[in-house]
Order: sequence, then C-alpha cells, then structure tokens
Amino acid sequence: MIYRFAEIDSTNKYALREMAALSHQDIILANSQTDGRGRLGRQWVSPPADNLYFSIVIKDFLHIEQNAFLSAVIALAVSTVLKEKYQLNTTLKWPNDVMIGEKKLCGILAESNKQGLVIGVGLNVNMTGDELTKIDRPATSMSVALGVKQEREDVFNNVIAEIFSFLKVIEKQGLAQLLLLWQDALQIIDKKIEAETPGGNFTGVVKKVDNDGGLLIETAAGQKKILAGDVKYVA
Ligand code: BTN
Repeated sequence: MIYRFAEIDSTNKYALREMAALSHQDIILANSQTDGRGRLGRQWVSPPADNLYFSIVIKDFLHIEQNAFLSAVIALAVSTVLKEKYQLNTTLKWPNDVMIGEKKLCGILAESNKQGLVIGVGLNVNMTGDELTKIDRPATSMSVALGVKQEREDVFNNVIAEIFSFLKVIEKQGLAQLLLLWQDALQIIDKKIEAETPGGNFTGVVKKVDNDGGLLIETAAGQKKILAGDVKYVA
C-alpha cells in the first residue's frame, strides 16, 4: 500500500513511528518534508513538488543487520533504472549515493527499530539549478542532467518497479548475486580516496569492499576499515 502525504516531517521518521501498523513493502511517499534526514545526521533538502521522497518498509525477509547491504542494493536498482529508462550516465559512490559525475542525484538512508527496517530514498527529479544551490554539497537533478522537466509520477513508478523486482530477486536468491554487481559497480578498488568519517578524515587506497559492506583502506598509518562516512576520489 502507498501512503501519500502533501507534507510530512520525514517519510523515514513516519515509517519508524508507525511501524507496528505498517506492512512489508508499504511505501510512504511525500510531496515535501519539513525535517528530511540524510546520512551522518545531515539534513535532506526537501522542497515541495520537485523531487521524490519515499520510504519502503521491510519487515519480512531480512535480518536487520543486513540493512547496510540492502540500501546498497536499492541504490543499484535506482541507478540501473535511471540508466536504462532515462539514459542517464549514473554511477554509484560508496556507500549508496547515486551520482552523475561528481554530483549527487539520489541518496538513501536505512533506519531500523525492533519491528522493522525503513529504506528512505531521496531522488532529485525536477530541482532547478537555482534550488540545487541550497544543498551544501555538489548536487544535480534529472531535469538539469536531461535538460527537460520530468513527469515525477512516472519516475516514481519506474523506480519502484525496479526496486521491487530487485527485492524479489533477494527474496528468492538472497543478496549474494546483487552484492557482487554492487561491488563491481562501485569501481572503487585500488582508487585513492579521501575518507570523511565519524572517526576522522584520512587518505588512502581502497583494497577491498568487505563482506559487511565496509571499506578496507591502506593508509600511511596502516590498514583502516570504514563502515560509515563519505569518500572523495583524489588523483
Ligand atoms: C543521504 O544522506 O544520502 C541520504 C538521504 C535520504 C533522503 C531520503 S528522502 C526520503 C527519506 N526520508 C528522509 O527523511 N530521508 C530519506
């Protein structure tokens, strides 16, 4: 079932609050958010009418610990459908950002409580260049990248169809196959990066995407592992 809101604090917050009454694969969709949340305690700029803000409730088939992986696979689904249906040159950036070049197009935030898991997706659909300047990091939208305004409801239907078909694959075969595709799509092995993490910033070369989704990085001070944060590629 899809629950639609003209305005909400945050679709993730709503889903977590109402989790007991919600069912597996219910969707909370909002036209705007007054308290949209990003990863690492950031704000997610959520003006009305422009973009997609939705959360999917996962209750049945996954152990909660897999939420890092599940959001990675959802990022892969979003990136795939934007490539195939809109000819956008999307790439994935660890852990689960969908990018066009150096600019972010879509972010994903997984949150959970005892009753279930919520995967929140924020996709910039029709934000104009002017509006994008309100975001404090390089960002883009589908309409800016394609040069023409998009039908938001069509984008929603296409993205949801792809996500649900990925979820079906997970239900039937588990995560392994899709995770290999995700690791491959990241193209991060042997790349030099600058990592901005809750534990501090450092530079190094990525050696492995670990089995829990974390990155193993070779730094001047030895090997480090990061599970959360942002990475920037450096030459
Ligand atoms: C990120 O920082 O990259 C994650 C952004 C996630 C934004 C979406 S919009 C819908 C859902 N509700 C929220 O408050 N956040 C997520």
